[in-house]
Amino acid sequence: MKLPDLVILDEKDKRLRLISKEVVFPLSNEDKKRIQDMLDYLKISQIDDLREKYNLRAGMGLAYIQLGIAKRIFVIVDEVDEGQFENYIVINPKIVSNSEELIYVGEGEGCLSINRETEGIVPRYARVTVEAFDIEGNPYRIRVREDLAIAFQHEIDHLNGILFTDKIDPKNPYKNMENMREI
Ligand code: NI
Repeated sequence: MKLPDLVILDEKDKRLRLISKEVVFPLSNEDKKRIQDMLDYLKISQIDDLREKYNLRAGMGLAYIQLGIAKRIFVIVDEVDEGQFENYIVINPKIVSNSEELIYVGEGEGCLSINRETEGIVPRYARVTVEAFDIEGNPYRIRVREDLAIAFQHEIDHLNGILFTDKIDPKNPYKNMENMREI
């Protein structure tokens, strides 16, 4: 698999702070190709040999705005089993319900736009139900949990100009952790 030629914005780029706009269907062929490129990029980043070959960081999700395009589109690639990948294409998403339970990633959240060490935890719902559209504009509803739920919430934040580091209190980066479950 060839590495798609994507330029991912760094957190210093102000475009990451834009509120992305709702997408109107049908998508152009250019958008469809870009979505496939994003999925390929994430998959490559999760395969050890290829990640090293291309000198990448592993990523699970990528939002359009990270390429500088303010449209409400993101993709997620979830390695469900060794070498088994599940792709998600999520357009115009809305969180329609969430669990009360909160979780956080014990080793810290990551983002392909944040190229430094970070400290602290990001509270996320353990489960969310999301309504969205697929690449052809068909509506669907999905319930996600655990790391996949975190990935969805992280990417939806990108569509609203929010980075995970915004959610960490620099004075108390582990605030309220006793009220959440570590994953
Ligand atoms: Ni991110």
